[in-house]
Amino acid sequence: MYKRGIVAVASFMLVVSAVACFQGITLAKEARIDPMKLYIKHCSDCHDKNGKPTDFGKELESTDFTDKNWQANTTDEKIVKQIADGTPEKMMSFKEKLNSDEMKALVPVIRSFVKK
Ligand code: HEC
Repeated sequence: MYKRGIVAVASFMLVVSAVACFQGITLAKEARIDPMKLYIKHCSDCHDKNGKPTDFGKELESTDFTDKNWQANTTDEKIVKQIADGTPEKMMSFKEKLNSDEMKALVPVIRSFVKK
């Protein structure tokens, strides 16, 4: 009887910790944003991984993020707005694909391309 109790408690603990562990994993997944991964996935058709327009991007006259003047004359809000709204016939809107945290997380990526 005593032994059975221990087994029951032990397996109960096992289930509890397995559930806790599983929830921990899914929570961490939801909270984690990898901005560079988002950039490569959604932006790199037109803006390359160094912030320059790709060949395809050049045809559409994509912005060169390494341009100091452009960086100096834009604001973080404008960058977020561009990602959300895009430019008709040039860049699509990402409102449906990215949430506002993800859009904000892309700002430092865009800012990181400027030549020092
Ligand atoms: C289909 C090609 C394409 C994709 C994909 C794309 N862009 Fe663009 N992007 C452009 C073009 C073209 C422009 C220039 C638009 C203009 O002149 O108004 C631009 C301009 C911008 C600008 C500058 C706007 C300004 O104020 O001058 C930002 C910031 C930007 N893109 C960010 C992004 C981010 C971040 C992503 C990914 C989430 C992305 N773009 C995906 C084509 C693209």
